[in-house]
Amino acid sequence: MISTLLSLLPLLPALAGSFASATTLWEMDNASGTFYYDLTETTTYDQCGGSGKAEAVMWAWDSGINNSTTLCETKMVNPPSLASIGTNRIVAMNANVLNADLAGWCGKEVKVFQDGAEVVLDEGPFVLFDGCGACESAMIVDFSVKAAVMMMPGQVCTGANPSGLTVQVVDTQIWDFPRDDSWQPTAASQPMKTSSNAGITGVGGSGGNAAAASVTTGAAAVATSSAGGAAATAAASAATGASSAAATGSTGGTLTANQCSPKGATQCSGGENQICNYVTSDVYLEWQTVPGSCTSKRGPRRLGAA
Ligand SMILES: *[C@@H]1O[C@H](CO)[C@@H](O)[C@H](O)[C@H]1NC(C)=O
Ligand SMILES: *[C@@H]1O[C@H](CO)[C@@H](O)[C@H](O)[C@H]1NC(C)=O
Ligand SMILES: *[C@@H]1O[C@H](CO)[C@@H](O)[C@H](O)[C@H]1NC(C)=O
Repeated sequence: MISTLLSLLPLLPALAGSFASATTLWEMDNASGTFYYDLTETTTYDQCGGSGKAEAVMWAWDSGINNSTTLCETKMVNPPSLASIGTNRIVAMNANVLNADLAGWCGKEVKVFQDGAEVVLDEGPFVLFDGCGACESAMIVDFSVKAAVMMMPGQVCTGANPSGLTVQVVDTQIWDFPRDDSWQPTAASQPMKTSSNAGITGVGGSGGNAAAASVTTGAAAVATSSAGGAAATAAASAATGASSAAATGSTGGTLTANQCSPKGATQCSGGENQICNYVTSDVYLEWQTVPGSCTSKRGPRRLGAA
């Protein structure tokens, strides 16, 4: 009897955990939605391409965007493209925030609410897996066409972008962060901690980048600023400066040619995009080449249009 009870005890915390709702790590209120890829597009079914629509016929195929890879696949040598991953659940958010803690953010579940109801895609929950340049200075989230159209007025891609969205990145790990080419878009084996375990709010034009600072430094978040884009950028670079000192200190030595700081810094080297990350060591940071050229920062479609 006693031994039966004892053997059940370890199960109790796990059960309690499964009933608790996931913690929100990053929330944006009144966000807008844009789209950047479309895996549903064919010559006869093109929701956002064609006459009277936001884009030209077959824009997603012709632009090659379906065949591009995501920010979260940075560590893969042969990353699968959006088309090969084959899901419309991937969303892109503020690339600065992701870059500051790729392993923490990549693969997390994203919940989207519109008019008080959760937006549910038939394929399964949204997953944060890409970075978006335009989302660094505006309160926007970049979706697949399939997802964005669901939220558009009248569910047609001729009018306004979805707006008034509440977006929550929650502490549920849908996919593992890809560490090498063995990665598959299958259920995560382990939850990853984000450096933002206190939660952040906003991030973008109206949320203020105090939130980005908290991601970088791991300090508690206080994103109450209603600063516009310029002020937000200033806040972000101030944060970068502060953590730069810390990062240099923690390497405990002089930077060698390939070492860098702070984590998440970006540079363009020989036409290649590089970010500062833990590559061969968990102790010091090195420049790591990421897919894509330096000049083509991924942007959302149709923002400001219509
Ligand atoms: C919500 O965002 C829109 C832009 O999409 C803006 O015009 C509006 O003022 C915002 N509302 C609030 C309450 O912040
Ligand atoms: C997406 O577009 C690319 C071309 O850019 C095409 O090769 C690919 O098959 C498309 N994928 C899907 C799922 O439509
Ligand atoms: C996109 O990738 C598919 C395989 O996933 C390939 O067949 C196709 O040629 C690629 N298209 C472009 C435009 O690169």
